Amino acid sequence: MKYLTAGESHGKAIVGIIDSYPSGVRIDIDFINNELKRRQKGFGRGERMAIEDDRVDIISGIRKEKSTGSPISFLIYNKDWKNWKDKIDKEDNLLNPRPGHADFSGLLKYHLASIRDTIERSSARETAARVCVGSFAKIILKMLGINIFSYVNQIGKVVYKNDVKINLDIVKKTEDSQVRCPDNKKSLEMKQEIIKASENGNSIGGGFKIIATNLVPGIGSYNQGSSRIDAKIAYSIMSIPGIKAVEIGEGFKSAGMKGTDFHDKIYYDDKKGFTRRTNNAGGIEGGMTNGEPIIIGAKMKPIPTTVKGIETVNIKSKKKEISLKERSDVCAVPSASIVGEAMLSIEILNGILEKFGKDNIDEIINNYNSYKEYINKI
Ligand SMILES: Cc1cc2nc3c(=O)[nH]c(=O)nc-3n(C[C@H](O)[C@H](O)[C@H](O)COP(=O)(O)O)c2cc1C
Repeated sequence: MKYLTAGESHGKAIVGIIDSYPSGVRIDIDFINNELKRRQKGFGRGERMAIEDDRVDIISGIRKEKSTGSPISFLIYNKDWKNWKDKIDKEDNLLNPRPGHADFSGLLKYHLASIRDTIERSSARETAARVCVGSFAKIILKMLGINIFSYVNQIGKVVYKNDVKINLDIVKKTEDSQVRCPDNKKSLEMKQEIIKASENGNSIGGGFKIIATNLVPGIGSYNQGSSRIDAKIAYSIMSIPGIKAVEIGEGFKSAGMKGTDFHDKIYYDDKKGFTRRTNNAGGIEGGMTNGEPIIIGAKMKPIPTTVKGIETVNIKSKKKEISLKERSDVCAVPSASIVGEAMLSIEILNGILEKFGKDNIDEIINNYNSYKEYINKI
């Protein structure tokens, strides 16, 4: 499954095309719209999200609620376009690049007269389309019993350290939290971090975990570096704007541990089959899933646009300036975790389609189940 996105932050719509999505999948539009809503939420987001009410408009590839195997295309309209379409060309002289954003290099690379064109496409508004693509992936993963979940484990200096064991209560607490942290006390402290940053005209970053459960071993391959599922996931998570570090399992801690302590010992249980009692590997060994939950950690830097502004220079006059102020989020870590779910879902689904076929969902499910039977019989 391949996808492309297009569209500007304040253009008419964000656009997506998905190629090679299997036929016969029942597409639940309410589910997709709910995923879009989850991306829009989160304490620390700017006024823009109060204007938008993201909903998908599917243009092709679905008939009678089912995928046909043809390319799927969709639109997510920008309500804010109406407010911007007349004024956007008038303010075509933005020349004070924001450190930390795409402004400086974008203007030079594309020979632009104003930072506006770079702002429009480098904006994370584009991630609405990725969440939409991710929802299509999640629909198939759900049919195979695979669940994807995320939670925020850091905002600024507030860190939530517990190992989260996913259950319905944890999922509910996370979805109910304005910062997507399952711990009430930490949620409040995280909110305070965002409020403090906002009151100071500043922005703040943080971190999140994404977990995929109920996987089979053997998705991905060690045959080529580019076939490794850990490599694909790291690439995909790192492609989310603002993400500056990605960890698989206890990746960072592993550097300081001994082999016999770090590696997850293999056991056999008559009822469960092959099992592990730890999951430091984060569900991936040798570039393949090993059947344990995939656990991904990501860190997001603070948002580059700040009310205070950051020291910069005017590209034409070369004089010292304060970076341009665009309406902005103060913190987008909770939203980024939803984008992370989408990116992980896309990579896992692609690994599954590679192994079990990609044309039709019944074919895929049959192949998937017979592989599971083969593993159970070993
Ligand atoms: C969901 C989401 C929302 C974001 N909102 C903003 C924002 O309102 N203002 C801003 O300057 N950056 C925002 N960012 C971060 C920038 O898009 C990002 O820092 C920028 O594109 C530069 O890319 P880089 O940080 O990967 O170098 C957001 C990122 C995400 C994932």
